[in-house]
Amino acid sequence: MKTAIIFRSKHGTTETVSRTMAQKLSTDEVTLIDLKKYPKPNLQDFGRIVVGGSIHAGAVQKQVKNFCTAHLNDLQQKEVGLFICCMDRELQEKEFENAFPDELKTHAKATGIMGGEFVFERMNFLERFIVKKISKTDHSVSDINEEAIDAFVSRLQG
Ligand SMILES: Cc1cc2nc3c(=O)[nH]c(=O)nc-3n(C[C@H](O)[C@H](O)[C@H](O)COP(=O)(O)O)c2cc1C
Repeated sequence: MKTAIIFRSKHGTTETVSRTMAQKLSTDEVTLIDLKKYPKPNLQDFGRIVVGGSIHAGAVQKQVKNFCTAHLNDLQQKEVGLFICCMDRELQEKEFENAFPDELKTHAKATGIMGGEFVFERMNFLERFIVKKISKTDHSVSDINEEAIDAFVSRLQG
């Protein structure tokens, strides 16, 4: 099936997860679409759409939310997967809940919370300050949940 993985990524983690997912969806013809570079992708060609974003200050990127709202009718005609990258294990379910419209979550074939990374080299001064404060760490950490990616891919293809 022709699949689009449509994502937004601030420091590259959601992009990395999207690329991993594309490799794992090996039986599909997968196109990766960065909403920052291509804010208005044409969905017509795709039977399956995966939408992913990351959480900063409690919320997914506005562009991801707006994309889902604007294309809700189209997306409901297709097979859909929804995922987020984030680092707060306690709040992650709530963050996912708030990231996508209810109608789309109900319609989705697969949903996933894929963990995340803190990449200090890619953060600006303010971001470093915030992350040090909330996470009590001052070095880069990778906590991508490969099992969650595998489960997501097999649900999508099942
Ligand atoms: C400034 C900043 C704020 C963040 N705020 C949150 C947050 O509120 N909740 C959370 O779960 N993760 C938070 N994170 C973690 C990100 O979701 C994580 O770094 C993710 O991997 C980012 O993916 P991206 O590089 O694709 O944007 C924050 C990260 C940064 C740098």
